[in-house]
Amino acid sequence: MNPIVNYYDDLATNYDENRFGNSYGQFIDRQERQILNRLLKDNEERILDMACGSGRLLNYATCGVDASNEMVQVTKKKFPAKEILLSDAENLPFPEQSVDTIISFHFFMHLDTEKIQTILKECHRVLKSGGRIIFDIPSKKRRQMLKYKTSGWHGATSFTLAELERMNAGLYVQRRSYGIMVFPIHRFPAGIRKLLGKLDSFIANWFLKEYSSYLVVECVKK
Ligand SMILES: C[S@@+](CC[C@H](N)C(=O)[O-])C[C@H]1O[C@@H](n2cnc3c(N)ncnc32)[C@H](O)[C@@H]1O
Repeated sequence: MNPIVNYYDDLATNYDENRFGNSYGQFIDRQERQILNRLLKDNEERILDMACGSGRLLNYATCGVDASNEMVQVTKKKFPAKEILLSDAENLPFPEQSVDTIISFHFFMHLDTEKIQTILKECHRVLKSGGRIIFDIPSKKRRQMLKYKTSGWHGATSFTLAELERMNAGLYVQRRSYGIMVFPIHRFPAGIRKLLGKLDSFIANWFLKEYSSYLVVECVKK
């Protein structure tokens, strides 16, 4: 059994509240949506949310996959009209060159580099020519600066932009990148969080990108 999938099976019914019900989760969710609103155009035909979890970002996608059966059940209830499939991201249940865009959030951070590479290869197979994958990963430079210690698989993996570029080099061109959360905006009073969020987003995408908590990259299939 896969311990990561077991963990999310147990969390599925409480995932939204547990992860995104607090001020930290709400801030991250808002910043991620701002980036997706910028990157995703209305005319894209097939967008896959890979490791879609409870379907938090599935309003941006036409279909979703997740390896947790409990997560899939939660998501199917929320989005009965969408195609939600139980599948490991290593073997996506789609033919070659059938997907325009893949989005995947809060997923790669749980996996080791070898597994991430395998999945990026699988995404490359199902993406159409010129298709892209948009994903997030914790920023290694920030973690190094803060001497952040990880334990176990949960959020254990982080990269620098240069490392991501090297890892992707054979398969993708890294076209754009963004930073999310330099300062702990969620700890400020609710009334000024939105304003501070804009300021944080400006700083995170101007000169402190790699010192943000998360990096979001858009990689285009070669
Ligand atoms: C932190 S949740 C992220 C959910 C969603 N993407 C979000 O941002 O809210 C991680 C998800 O990855 C799924 N997962 C873990 N390993 C997987 C794998 N090998 N293939 C597909 N999904 C997997 C888990 O079941 C879980 O739903």
